[in-house]
Amino acid sequence: MAQEIILHFKTKEGDTRTVDAVIGDSVMETAIKNDIDEVVAECGGSLICSTCHVYLEDETVAVVPEPDDAELDMLEGVASERQANSRLSCQVIVSEAMAGHTIHTPEDQ
Ligand code: FES
Repeated sequence: MAQEIILHFKTKEGDTRTVDAVIGDSVMETAIKNDIDEVVAECGGSLICSTCHVYLEDETVAVVPEPDDAELDMLEGVASERQANSRLSCQVIVSEAMAGHTIHTPEDQ
């Protein structure tokens, strides 16, 4: 069985959903599998839509690789305010180090 960790998704309104996340899946795939509607992911992870925008907390930023140039380019097109901790969730891979972390979803995608 695939190894899983717990992740929390917190919406702008303050609702928190706790889900099982498979290590190796992207955060976007985790959101879609768990009906987190705040992550739209129109392009299915092809890095051409920017509708999988999320905000990471510092503890998560510390344990995930930095965005590459293609992701940084696409982050310029996000619908909600882009922040220093903005990421496209299809490019963030769930790892054991993220256990118990909280992913924040933006107001709009
Ligand atoms: S799902 Fe389209 S850019 Fe992430």
